[in-house]
Amino acid sequence: MTDGILVGAASPRSIAGSAGRPGSASETDDQWWRRAVIYQVYIRSFADGNGDGIGDLAGVRARLPYLVDLGVDAIWFTPWYVSPLADGGYDVADYRAIDPTFGSLDEAERLISEARDLGIRTIVDIVPNHVSDQHPWFQAALASEPGSPERARFWFRPGRGEAGNEMPNGWLSNFSGPAWTRTNDPDGTPGEWYLHLFSSQQPDLNWGHPDVRAEHEAVLRFWFDRGVAGVRIDSAALLVKDSALPEVPLQPGPGEHPNTDRDELHEIYRGWRAVADSYPDARILVGEIWLPDIERFAKYLRPDELHTAFNFDFMARPWDAPSLKASIDSTLAAHAPVGAPATWVLSNHDVTRPVTRYGQEDSSFAFATKRVGTPTDLELGRRRARAAALLCAALPGSLYIYQGEELGLDEVQDLPAHQLRDPMYLRSGGEDPGRDGCRVPLPWAGTSAPFGFSPAGATHEPWLRQPGRWAGLTVEAQQRDPGSMLDLYRTMLRIRRTDPALGDGPLRWLPSAPDVLAFERGDGFVCLTNFSPSPIELPAGGSLVLASAELSGARLPSDATAWLRLDRSPTRTSPSGDRRRGGDDGME
Ligand code: NOJ
Ligand code: CA
Repeated sequence: MTDGILVGAASPRSIAGSAGRPGSASETDDQWWRRAVIYQVYIRSFADGNGDGIGDLAGVRARLPYLVDLGVDAIWFTPWYVSPLADGGYDVADYRAIDPTFGSLDEAERLISEARDLGIRTIVDIVPNHVSDQHPWFQAALASEPGSPERARFWFRPGRGEAGNEMPNGWLSNFSGPAWTRTNDPDGTPGEWYLHLFSSQQPDLNWGHPDVRAEHEAVLRFWFDRGVAGVRIDSAALLVKDSALPEVPLQPGPGEHPNTDRDELHEIYRGWRAVADSYPDARILVGEIWLPDIERFAKYLRPDELHTAFNFDFMARPWDAPSLKASIDSTLAAHAPVGAPATWVLSNHDVTRPVTRYGQEDSSFAFATKRVGTPTDLELGRRRARAAALLCAALPGSLYIYQGEELGLDEVQDLPAHQLRDPMYLRSGGEDPGRDGCRVPLPWAGTSAPFGFSPAGATHEPWLRQPGRWAGLTVEAQQRDPGSMLDLYRTMLRIRRTDPALGDGPLRWLPSAPDVLAFERGDGFVCLTNFSPSPIELPAGGSLVLASAELSGARLPSDATAWLRLDRSPTRTSPSGDRRRGGDDGME
């Protein structure tokens, strides 16, 4: 790591250091989720405890102290249930058991309670749109006749055409290709088709069926009873289908899409909220909702529905001040009427790592255009990712961090073809690079693979090859480097945890040039990001709390963010030019 941070007059270590973990998961704080920092663990790639090259619960348990030091409030685990792993666990065969590759239910319970003792809450992933084709319900459906009650829990339909060999409709899978697969009848002859909006190993459930509803509410209770503090709801806007299965209109109006964002979904989530609210302490529902219509998005966050949902709009935007400002404004404006906090997300296990994205000329994200092979300036990308981290952490609401983001890992775009597992890659015949490149096992220590991901004497190499260039990005290396990304994240989270201006609450934009974003939180906490190609002067009358890059004098360089605390003495002016009343923070 070459680019350093500069800590100004007000040392963040002294600000944060005195307060310990006051914002941690206290028993009584029912509003914790409104400002929480939630760390996403993609379990297969976090830490391998038993040396088989695949991450597991033992690995997570051993690394809990790392997450405490990092300063997170909760962990969201991507699916850890029994699964053939056709889609990284988003193909669940048994919701009430842990996949033996990862550990056991008993161990999961221990992990939940150990984390809780350390002040970290647990969020599990619920995948309600589909199950694995190995799930007993689907196996029973395959073994049963067309029209049977077993098939009614899914979307089985006869094919079109005389021989029934045309798909029931033209819907497409999110993973390329058709959304229908034909089955064989129990006697071996070609039979009905079934719907799968993702891979053919992930048959869609019929949410019009009472068993489907009852089962998911029972699964919620199962995990809440084991102490989890919330659930992340996979593909939350897809569950309900128009049962006539019409073609997708060219330009569906609001609520008119036959398989996305249907109005009936709200009633389902009201039922889930009632389950969550039946517990004495807060249990939260977090929706994975990709919708271009932010007003429709916000409807899921009404007070009797989900608590929060991922804000992907911000994540998908390019590194551009007006575009990000527009996203922040529309996000906050849409959340305000429903009283829900926004979430800020820079990455997850589905999208290109931000260091790589921000190092490309077009730094926006879209599934359809992943730009593998385009020139990428990783140094620039890492610099912008640092600035983006401080920007996001200062915005109102809760914050998500995807494992490895705090290490500044880049997308691995040259994995050996035989290792690629993602159905996005496999189903597209390699046209889509897939998502394996952001799922490479974390580098913990040492100078060569497996970089401490697996213990000494491991029997297998990590399931995806780690690049040699990560030697400088291991946790061990970054812990020694005060200018590292890891150090920036730790410091940033410590300040965020202890400064009441941060987290939930209002934001006030300060006047600035169009390629600068400047806003105030609370009384006098200022976040300033410079997107312009030249350094900018920091406002007089403020002391530096933290910066993502080294300042030159009082100038903030290009592609950097600074956090400042304004001095409120009557002789000072704010960056907006307003004269301010006398201050009380005395930090200069
Ligand atoms: C969204 C998940 O994040 C992704 O990884 C998965 O492939 C799809 N939903 C299908 O479950
Ligand atoms: Ca393992």
